[in-house]
Amino acid sequence: MILDTFIAKVDPENPTLNKDIIAKAADIIKNGGLVAFPTETVYGLGGNALDGEAAKKIYAAKGRPSDNPLIVHISHIDELYPLVEEVSPKAKALMDAFWPGPLTLIFKKKPIIPSETSGGLDTVAIRFPENKVAKEFISACGVPIAAPSANTSGKPSPTRASHVAYDMTGRIDMIIDGGSCEFGLESTIVDTTCEPPCLLRPGAVTLGMMKELIGDMTVDKAVVSALKEGEKPKAPGMKYTHYSPKAHITIVKGSLDMVEKYIIEQADKGKAEGCNVGIIATVQTKDSYSGHNVLIIGDRDHPETIAANLFKMLRKCDYLGFERVYVEYFDEDELGMAIMNRLKKAAGYDIVVL
Ligand code: TXA
Ligand code: MG
Repeated sequence: MILDTFIAKVDPENPTLNKDIIAKAADIIKNGGLVAFPTETVYGLGGNALDGEAAKKIYAAKGRPSDNPLIVHISHIDELYPLVEEVSPKAKALMDAFWPGPLTLIFKKKPIIPSETSGGLDTVAIRFPENKVAKEFISACGVPIAAPSANTSGKPSPTRASHVAYDMTGRIDMIIDGGSCEFGLESTIVDTTCEPPCLLRPGAVTLGMMKELIGDMTVDKAVVSALKEGEKPKAPGMKYTHYSPKAHITIVKGSLDMVEKYIIEQADKGKAEGCNVGIIATVQTKDSYSGHNVLIIGDRDHPETIAANLFKMLRKCDYLGFERVYVEYFDEDELGMAIMNRLKKAAGYDIVVL
């Protein structure tokens, strides 16, 4: 069935000015429908987390395999305890330091979480977002909100309402437009059911920030490298192809001089072959590529700008019809770990090392 998707703007700084819109969105959720909403990471595709039928609708709207569990969003710390069996002291320390914020924690689930929401696992991922519109919306719903990123499965996560509209028009009931997302990469995910806790997906809350607080942590293999045949990531979603634009993406690693030289050679070659080539460059390097299709992703001295623009750039590659795209490599420390995790997946791990 094709739905009549309703899009409404809400003031990101003061969502209480738009109480009527938030109330309409909450009514849709209470009636089993789906509403996309902004968070500080990416837009989420929300449904009632306690309703297995709503979870099924989410999987259908995204075209997502139903063994890939959904993150459950809350708007107050007290809403956590009815959903989970146990909160370890380290989980509590992470919550105290980083909630509300871009951090998702995995706990043993209580039976109130339906297996559709948890993808059949006995654990559940919980996130308490900081975005004002998200908090207002979740609180108005009066139930926890299951929400994956609001993109078609396999596509880059949406960081603008227009991205959600592109993927989801006709598939969901409503989109709350709360402007662009602050961080632009999905939340950090940490499994707190094991000791030491394990990083399953890197994000804006970095490994360094967490280790400083709770000591040793392990890192799931799927975070930094491609998995081999038969290997399984601890976050089921990390096994799927992700963020992939239609273009073939190649990451180029080396000293910046050599990277620029290589990319110019390849772009000239591609152009001569009649191929629509794009280059994802930075403020520091953009002028080296004159005469080519250059997208500026951000400033190397401010990695948060690169994180915030990454998914928008990957979507632009599609909108501009690029067939081949070259991207400069970024250092994999701190936020760079999250940036490169997403870029490597988008490139299908095609990295040229000079
Ligand atoms: O920033 C975010 O986390 C966004 C916003 C909307 O909150 N949400 C998001 O959800 O990125 P999604 O569904 O696109 O990614 C959730 C990831 C998937 O890789 C999934 O496999 C993993 O979390 N996950 C969910 N529940 C899990 C569990 N119980 N154990 C392990 N991994 C889990
Ligand atoms: Mg996603």
